[in-house]
Parts: sequence; structure tokens; C-alpha cells
Amino acid sequence: MKIFLDTADINEIKDGLSMGLIDGVTTNPTLISRIKGKDFRTVVKEILDTIDGPVSIEAIADDYEGMVKQGRKISELGENAVVKIPVTTEGLKAIRTLSREKIKVNCTLVFNPIQALFAAKAGAFFVSPFVGRLDDISEDGMFLVEEIKSIFDNYSISTQILVASVRNPMHIVRAALIGADAITVPYNVLLKLPSHPKTNEGLRKFADDWKKVSPDGSFPL
Ligand code: E4P
Repeated sequence: MKIFLDTADINEIKDGLSMGLIDGVTTNPTLISRIKGKDFRTVVKEILDTIDGPVSIEAIADDYEGMVKQGRKISELGENAVVKIPVTTEGLKAIRTLSREKIKVNCTLVFNPIQALFAAKAGAFFVSPFVGRLDDISEDGMFLVEEIKSIFDNYSISTQILVASVRNPMHIVRAALIGADAITVPYNVLLKLPSHPKTNEGLRKFADDWKKVSPDGSFPL
């Protein structure tokens, strides 16, 4: 399963890359709005130039012509640019047009399996079910991922499932068990992934016992 970072913060991306964990990046207008002192183009170019993998950037128009125009401009910024388009009736038309031009589209804000199926039929490269936002309204976001996975398997659909709106490490475990192609993770969740209380407990015990070998804690090699 590919792991993307859900951020527009270049320092978070560099840190994720240094851990060897990050295969791509997803942004959205909210994440971009948190970056102060840099214009949109600069933020996006810096991300595209920092990572080889796919970087999703959202078109903000809500009409077909606007989405296609913005999508083409986004795709010109880098070979790894992926255009985020929502599944609306206008969005589906834009997904079809951009995909036919070989521009990769990440269909965003997917909340039911029909939206995912329609986006795939229109040619989307990724579909992004927003699992956390469904959990927020007492639905089971990961069940949506299971449904999409079954439908795509039934019809050998090649569109990739990119699990989004991730809130906790269990979303990642469940996504991997279901067989999602990719998941996009906020930086704070990424940092929680490798930690375990028993690992910390074990490290404390080893450090205490090491003092019996080397009272000043130094390593004698
Ligand atoms: C995905 O591409 C989105 O940027 C993101 O996962 C949205 O997550 P949120 O629901 O935490 O805003």
C-alpha cells in the first residue's frame, strides 16, 4: 500500500521522505490555506519538485469549463501533478475530458460507492473515499472502502483506491487489510504509527540495565 502525506507543509514532507515512508502527497484548499507567506504556485511547485511521486492539487472551480481549465494548468506544473476533481455531474465531465488528455485525476470527496464507480467510469486514476468525515457523522468510513474494493474487483477496474480523511492508525491497518492501493495520512498520524508503549517500556528497561554495564551510560566501542 502506498503511503501519501496529506499536507502542503514542505518541512513535514521532507521529514516523511527522510523516514523513507512517503510515496506521494495530497493537498486541498484547506491545507494550502495553512501555509503563510508563500503564494499558491510557489507552495505547489516546491512540493512537486521535492517528491517524485504523485502530488494531488485541487481545482477549485465548480463548473466543467473551469475545472478543465484549472486542471490543465495544474498538470503543466509538473509531470507528477495529479488534479483533484469532485464527483459532481460537472466534475464527472471534467474527469472524462482530463483523463482523455492523459492528465491523472484524483476524484475527491467520495462518500458513497456509486460516486466511486462513476468516477472510475469517467476515467479517474484515483478515487478518494473520505473515511474520517463519514466516521464523524456516525457512519463507518472503512466499510465504504470495502464496498468500493469489491465493486472494483468485480469488474477489474484499474482506478486506484486512495483512502483519505484519515484520523488514526487503525484506518491504516484496516485499509491495508482491505487491500486499498494507497492511503493519505496527516503528519501527526504518521508520527504515531511506529510508536508502541511496549517499545518505549522496553527501551527504558534497556537504558536502566545498561547503567550496570556502563555507569556513565557511554557505549564502550
Ligand atoms: C485528501 O485528499 C484530503 O486532503 C484529506 O484527506 C481530507 O481530510 P480531512 O477530512 O481531515 O480534512
